[in-house]
Parts: sequence; C-alpha cells; structure tokens
Amino acid sequence: MSNPVMSVTLAGMELKNPVVVASGTFGFGREYGQFYDLSQLGGICVKGLTAQRREGNPPPRIAETPMGILNSVGLQNPGVDAFLATELPFLRQYDVKVIANISGNTPEEYGEMCEKLSAAGVDMIEVNISCPNVKAGGLAYGTRPELAAEVTRMAKTHAGKVPVMVKLSPNVTDITQIAQAVADAGADALSLINTLRGMRIDVNTRRPILKMNTGGMSGPAVLPVAVRMVWEVANAVSLPILGMGGVSDGDSAAQMMLAGATAVAVGTACFADPYAPIKVRDGLRDIAANQGLDRVAQLTGGVRPW
Ligand SMILES: Cc1cc2nc3c(=O)[nH]c(=O)nc-3n(C[C@H](O)[C@H](O)[C@H](O)COP(=O)(O)O)c2cc1C
Repeated sequence: MSNPVMSVTLAGMELKNPVVVASGTFGFGREYGQFYDLSQLGGICVKGLTAQRREGNPPPRIAETPMGILNSVGLQNPGVDAFLATELPFLRQYDVKVIANISGNTPEEYGEMCEKLSAAGVDMIEVNISCPNVKAGGLAYGTRPELAAEVTRMAKTHAGKVPVMVKLSPNVTDITQIAQAVADAGADALSLINTLRGMRIDVNTRRPILKMNTGGMSGPAVLPVAVRMVWEVANAVSLPILGMGGVSDGDSAAQMMLAGATAVAVGTACFADPYAPIKVRDGLRDIAANQGLDRVAQLTGGVRPW
C-alpha cells in the first residue's frame, strides 16, 4: 500500500484530485454545497452557459433508463452575465477550480462569452459543441470537423490565457476526426463524452416519454462506450483528456484514466448520490494505493491492450 499523491495537471491547471463534476449535473454547486465542502472536489464544471438566459425545453425532460437517464433539459441557465454576477462569486468561496461550460448559436457568440469569462478569471473554459438538445449550434458544431475547428479557433482567440477545453460528442461515426480537427485548431484539452442520443416510448399512449421526443443518454450504462472513445481519442491526439460518461465509482474512474484520461468528471451519478464525486475520489485513491503507485496520475494511459 502506498499513499499516492492525488493531484493532477490538466492543460496547466492543477487539480487537487482528478475528480471534477460534469456540466449540467451539479448546477452551480449551491445545492451540493449543503451536503459537503465543495473544496474537496478537484473542479466544478458549471451548468452550460449561453449569451442570454434560457428557459430550456418543456417537460417531461428527464426519463430513467436501465442504469442511466435520458434528458432533454436544453441548456436552461441564467445567462453568462448572471453567472458572473452571482454564481462565480459564490463558487470563489471554495478552494476548487471553476470550469465554465459554454454553448453558442454562432462562433462569434462563443468568442464573446470567452472574452467575458477570461476577464473574470475562470480557471478553464469548456466549449460545448455537443449538446443534443438544442436546435441552433450545439451538436451541429460537434459533428462537423470544419465547424468544430472554427468554434475552437474563435474560443482560443478570445480566451486569453485561460485554457480552452472542447467537449466532444459521441454522436459521430469517428470521434477521432473531430478530436484531430479541434486539436489542430489549438484546443488545450478535450472532454468527452457528452450524452448519446436516445429515445423512450410509452407503449400505451404511443407517445415518446420526453416532450422533445428524443434526448441525451448518460449514466453507468454509457461507461463502456465512453471508455472506448477516450481510448481512441487518446491514441489519436496528444491533448490531455477529461473523461466522462458513466463514472460512478473508483473502478469506473480508474478505467477512464487507464484509457487515457488525465482527470474524470462525474455527472449522472450525482443525482443518485450527491456524495458520488467524493466516493469516486476515495475509490481512485484506494485503487492507486493498492497498486503501489506514488501518484494517481500514473494510471493515465496505463491500459495494456492485447
Ligand atoms: C441533466 C443533464 C444536463 C446536462 N447539461 C449539460 C450542459 O449544460 N453542458 C454540457 O456540456 N453537458 C451537459 N450534460 C452532459 C454531462 O456533462 C456529461 O457529459 C454526460 O452526462 C455524461 O456523463 P455522466 O454519464 O457521468 O452523466 C448534461 C447531462 C445531464 C444528465
């Protein structure tokens, strides 16, 4: 048994441990802050921000699936200015890295938000080009390499010294093509995966369960897909990766890191258990200790493919 160092560095940003909470599953931290000290987390990815406030999509917009959920929330958020005025000061009470997740209707909108967020000193910007639940922008940028590259360039131009991480969609034929385009356009890091498009139907009414008909699937059921994609991307580009999709305990987090992730994000698992990110951190530490590692970072990329 060792006592492994838990800190990791993601694109120059030091996290006290590799566990981040995933955008859209942790709000701005206020509710979870009632359960434990948010400073225990490595980082917080805030709910997806847009240039103007958004109500999101009509309900029902969450449906359970075996070992997962479907959501069609559609980027409900107070807008970037309200975030800067009230939510960022709240988060700054804690010793935790703040990652601002953004979605734009146009590349210019991404640029404007990056300008404001970097001036306010967020620790990292996560550029969401992969939301399956909005009409404009969103997934359209994440499924076409040239558009993904354009948004990345725009974000980099306006983010100043703040590192830019681009969040990739699993709803593509070859995720490495998008990863390569985004890397060539200057991204500092990649995060993956966003949700997988899915659908449930009520057999009696013959209506889809979600008002938007389809939604994005997440939770433990998607872990093997996410691990496979992290592994493919890690082999294709040399950028650091924030791995997510189904991480719910130490074992799933360690799989992500062995596949090539520098750090992991915990999303849907927070809904079932608000303490999930803390348990993931402790589980990761136990695995690294049992394997006699000096640093948890030594897990990254350590898979031994047949
Ligand atoms: C209810 C809900 C809302 C989400 N909102 C966002 C969002 O605003 N921006 C974003 O980039 N990803 C969003 N996501 C995707 C998650 O950040 C994450 O990529 C995905 O859920 C996979 O991780 P998980 O299986 O641990 O939940 C959302 C996911 C859920 C379940």
